[in-house]
Amino acid sequence: MGRLLLAPMEGLVDDVLRDVLTRLGAYDLAVSEFLRVSGSVLPVRSFRRICPELGRGSRTDAGTPVVVQLLGSDPACLADNAAQLVELSPAGIDLNFGCPAPTVNRHGGGATLLTDPEQLFRIVATVRRVVPAEIPFTAKMRLGVRDTARTLDCARALAAGGVVSLVVHARTRAEGYRPPAHWEWVARIKDVVQQPVTANGEVWTTADHARCCAVSGTQDVMLGRGAVADPFLARRIRALAAGQAIASDRSLDWLLLQPLLASYWQQVCGKVSPRQAPGRLKLWLGSLQRNFIEAEALFIAVRALRGVEEVSRVLRRHGVPVMPAAG
Ligand SMILES: Cc1cc2nc3c(=O)[nH]c(=O)nc-3n(C[C@H](O)[C@H](O)[C@H](O)COP(=O)(O)O)c2cc1C
Repeated sequence: MGRLLLAPMEGLVDDVLRDVLTRLGAYDLAVSEFLRVSGSVLPVRSFRRICPELGRGSRTDAGTPVVVQLLGSDPACLADNAAQLVELSPAGIDLNFGCPAPTVNRHGGGATLLTDPEQLFRIVATVRRVVPAEIPFTAKMRLGVRDTARTLDCARALAAGGVVSLVVHARTRAEGYRPPAHWEWVARIKDVVQQPVTANGEVWTTADHARCCAVSGTQDVMLGRGAVADPFLARRIRALAAGQAIASDRSLDWLLLQPLLASYWQQVCGKVSPRQAPGRLKLWLGSLQRNFIEAEALFIAVRALRGVEEVSRVLRRHGVPVMPAAG
């Protein structure tokens, strides 16, 4: 069995959801949402905001290491910020070369850099110099901006620049998040770099995981939206790999999920403003609907609610053991 990584997902997976998802015990590593770097060295509090786990040995409560992801285009500025981050002893430092958001790309960060392997090399080589060998230094890339003409050159540039491993989200920026993911490109990248390569994209089920491993030729897989929509996915993948019988009883899974939903809601209420909290819950329930009909019913019941107390009441009515203190 290879490694299972929990993907960075800005606006969807923060420290609270990382805590809950990694409690199911099946992830080797999680990556934080990207921290955008431009122009100056960010204060320590910016790193701690994106990755509160830095204050706890860079691990979730369940013990899963959390790598911090940086996004930017200026080699010196990224290196200065990486040096600041090194002081906080992260479980790893990852560079983002895959973000498709226009606000990010206007500043030349994220996926736009995939047209320019020379610049990728400069960035990685410059940051490499400030990251000590004991902190894993990695990168996450898409296949390109519009096509795959320079995919292999980009992967070679990242490898030559000094990353110790590479995650490949097997789609171009133009493809957004539309299926399919081109796992065969992960295999092609593996052929041209020495470093371990992790496959990412469109793994929603254990069957997808098996096909992804077979097509990409790697056993290391990063789970994104599939992990949020099915908190039991990683555990199920591991059970299958270990040859254990796995029950695929969604109603039972939903029952097991109740304390995690309660913990999520309580932590969200403690972290964000009462105005924002219901939206965060709706976001996760929206994803869970893909696999759980009970999540759909709950989503419909809370959809129009704005108040924390009302949401807590509805959650309790649906069997989620929310303590009164959470609103
Ligand atoms: C809401 C959302 C936010 C994301 N934020 C990030 C991010 O901060 N950094 C990053 O490298 N990738 C980000 N991604 C991309 C994911 O890490 C992953 O590569 C992508 O979702 C493909 O995997 P999946 O098909 O398993 O979801 C984001 C994806 C989504 C859907």
